[in-house]
Amino acid sequence: MKPKVEVKPGSNGSKSKYWIEEHFKYIALSTHDPENLPLVIEKGEGVWLYDVDGNKYIDFSSGISVCNLGYPTHPEIKKTVLEQLEKLAHGAGTDFFNPYQVELAKKLVSITPGEFAKKVFFSNSGTEANEAAVKLVRQATGRKIIIAFYGGFHGRTMGSLALTASKNVQKKGMFPWMPGVIHVPYPNPYRNPWHIDGYEQPLELVNRVLEFIEEYVLDKLISPEDVGAVIAEPIQGEGGYVIPPKMFFTELKKTMDKYGILFIDDEVQMGLGRTGKMFAIEHFNTAPEIMTLAKALSGGVVPIGATVFRSDLDFKQPGVHSNTFGGHALACVVALKTIEIVEKLLPRVQKLEKLFNDELRPLREKIDKVGDVRGLGLAWGVEIVFDKKSKKPDPQTRNKIIKSALEKGLVLLPCGKNSIRLIPPLVISEEEAKLGLEIFKDAVLSVAR
Ligand SMILES: Cc1ncc(COP(=O)(O)O)c(C=O)c1O
Repeated sequence: MKPKVEVKPGSNGSKSKYWIEEHFKYIALSTHDPENLPLVIEKGEGVWLYDVDGNKYIDFSSGISVCNLGYPTHPEIKKTVLEQLEKLAHGAGTDFFNPYQVELAKKLVSITPGEFAKKVFFSNSGTEANEAAVKLVRQATGRKIIIAFYGGFHGRTMGSLALTASKNVQKKGMFPWMPGVIHVPYPNPYRNPWHIDGYEQPLELVNRVLEFIEEYVLDKLISPEDVGAVIAEPIQGEGGYVIPPKMFFTELKKTMDKYGILFIDDEVQMGLGRTGKMFAIEHFNTAPEIMTLAKALSGGVVPIGATVFRSDLDFKQPGVHSNTFGGHALACVVALKTIEIVEKLLPRVQKLEKLFNDELRPLREKIDKVGDVRGLGLAWGVEIVFDKKSKKPDPQTRNKIIKSALEKGLVLLPCGKNSIRLIPPLVISEEEAKLGLEIFKDAVLSVAR
């Protein structure tokens, strides 16, 4: 099937050029790489994006895993927003009470894994959700050290930044960040320090990681009694859409339980249906003591962050942690509706997983530069290398593929050093998904063959 999207030379249009130049004059330099994605979005409709020059693109980026319900948002969310705006948007939810945050907290408590009493702390972003998790752990356990994983991304404020280890530029010039974080290798089946093929020998890989934690960290480096928690993404997002072996989290949890170390599950990128389950950790049959959420939780229209935790870990004193927008009435109502819509979308995401699998996996067999293809639901990563034998990362070719796809009408985002993420909105139809995948394959073949 030939792609039917009509794209003119796209983002090289004069209006796009103008806005990009103005952007770099007025907006801080730290966020955009001018080399990669010259896309100036004017509007979106379903899974389609339109740039200021009138070009149309199919979106496989979901606004970095936020717009799971498509653009500008789902019609039911729009209705909910308009109705709620007749009542209350901001009601100082951290000083006064409102029913909306209580309803959302009750829902989150009921759908997150773990048959124990839970409570919720609300904030505005992923990094804040993780900051709250760290504070909860410190005050509940009195232990100050946190174990995190290489390749993990947890945000950029000074606490979360300390947990993050996906690219060194994120920390460049920023030291000192929060002290007391020890990083250990993530069980990346394709690329790990032991050169184990984790697809062929998953248990071997998991055992090596646990052995590292126990023998090299908890035995020689620090006392387990000083470690409050281990934090992990169930699938590493910014680190490259890396899926650990199936048994990893149950084994990790068993090991951590021996030492009374809590497990923080960062679902900021993979949560809310992205992997075909509401939370990615459900694929691994593990109940974390603390889960963090943000991004897609409020339908792509209002920022929100949530830290869901075992009730007994609760802060011991009012005022010890708070923020202005937490428990925002509009954000909470939208989040409730988002969860309701995502619940209905899960079967579609599970069904589309097969399509992505069938279309993407053969690329690995056909093309030497496609080192690895991995995915669950609508969360897929394709890793680009110089050649399969060396596995040497090839970020330049990866960038060329993303650029070529954009010129052909498909929006993609990079992740990790040399991977591409394919994460369409969950509302995508099979036909639209096929179209996007065709463009992707076309881009890969034209650049990497
Ligand atoms: C897994 C994960 N945790 C935390 C964050 C930080 O979220 P935010 O950018 O909303 O602070 C991100 C952002 O990409 C993320 O992917």
